[in-house]
Amino acid sequence: MIKQDTYFTDLEDKYGAHNYKPLPVVIDRGEGVHVWDVNGKQYYDFLSAYSALNQGHCHPRIIQALKDQADKLTLTSRAFYNSVLGECEKYITGIFGYDKVLMMNSGVEAVETAIKLCRKWAYEVKKLPEGQAKIIVVTENFHGRTLGVVSFSNDPDSYDGYGPFLPGFELIPYNDLSAMEQAIKQPNVAGVMIEPIQGEAGVIVPDEGYLESISKWCKESNVLFIADEVQTGIARTGKMLATDHEDCRPDIIVLGKALSGGVLPVSAVLADDEIMLTIKPGQHGSTYGGNPLSCAVAMEALKVVEDEGLVENARRLGELFRERMRAIKSPLVTAVRGKGLLNAIDITPFGDGKTAYDVCLLLRDNGLLAKQTHVHTIRFAPPLVITEEQIHECADIIESTIMGLQ
Ligand SMILES: Cc1ncc(COP(=O)(O)O)c(C=O)c1O
Repeated sequence: MIKQDTYFTDLEDKYGAHNYKPLPVVIDRGEGVHVWDVNGKQYYDFLSAYSALNQGHCHPRIIQALKDQADKLTLTSRAFYNSVLGECEKYITGIFGYDKVLMMNSGVEAVETAIKLCRKWAYEVKKLPEGQAKIIVVTENFHGRTLGVVSFSNDPDSYDGYGPFLPGFELIPYNDLSAMEQAIKQPNVAGVMIEPIQGEAGVIVPDEGYLESISKWCKESNVLFIADEVQTGIARTGKMLATDHEDCRPDIIVLGKALSGGVLPVSAVLADDEIMLTIKPGQHGSTYGGNPLSCAVAMEALKVVEDEGLVENARRLGELFRERMRAIKSPLVTAVRGKGLLNAIDITPFGDGKTAYDVCLLLRDNGLLAKQTHVHTIRFAPPLVITEEQIHECADIIESTIMGLQ
């Protein structure tokens, strides 16, 4: 018997915590740029699990790597060496050009790791007075959901009701160079942490020169520049890292999501020895961090990005996609922005108080899955394996859906 959508949504509603409000569609299968719901209807996936599926759903090479490693060895913990971790560390540090990598699991765990590294470095190398290290962060940031990280969010949905919070962060306006310059020069500043493009905030791209200036001022003041590339990294914006768009080399890079091609939670922090070696044995870790299964998957996921030219595909097709979005002749579309294949449009309220969410429902009906972020924005982030023909087909779906709005 075919089960109805409501069977699955009711189950989640009854037995799961209500910490998400999913778009009503029940996905059962995925391959490349497509997913199928439990009724067999096919959709383009234009969210890619918030940019975790850059290599597409169930990429055969990544799944094969997973299966091969799963048959052999999955977990040792870091109590012992394993035969995959070192190869993986060598491969990742080689690609991104840092001395060392520290493997974790979720994105937010890697962000927390970066914060710990930054503080340790500040006390041991920069010699700040104990307990005084400050990290500069920016408004509308999204770095994940742990208590430490929501402590410096300015989104009440993220922090309300979870206090008391972790001190040691100073929030300044995003994309405001004079505020940043002043903030970096203050005493006891250990680091600056930003997303090079703010994904969750609605794909907010800073002015050209923003990253480069932060990098320069950080160097001048002996402050660490931490780039959270969990969403923007690994080819998404048309460069391997979004910080590569400018002349800057962050001191700490945080990666997650597409590091495993959407197969497993795998994250990583990259830094040079002066920073990474401040954490000594026993001072940080995770049972699953650096497990052989994740390592085998991460290496293959990165090789796929390289072998399939996903950086160039994201760059070229991103330009084409934004061109198509800008050509939509509707007063309801008030902004189009993005880099590579991380893009968004703003939709002004229409009809009887309808918003971007209602547009997402119509897009779903027309075979394309996207999700609103905040009230007025729809993020478009397909898998980077998408073809030019498919981009046109998807732009046609979006255009006809918007032109049909009233
Ligand atoms: C920039 C950024 N950092 C960190 C995270 C947290 O990653 P995770 O959900 O894997 O903990 C996210 C998730 O969306 C993100 O976009």
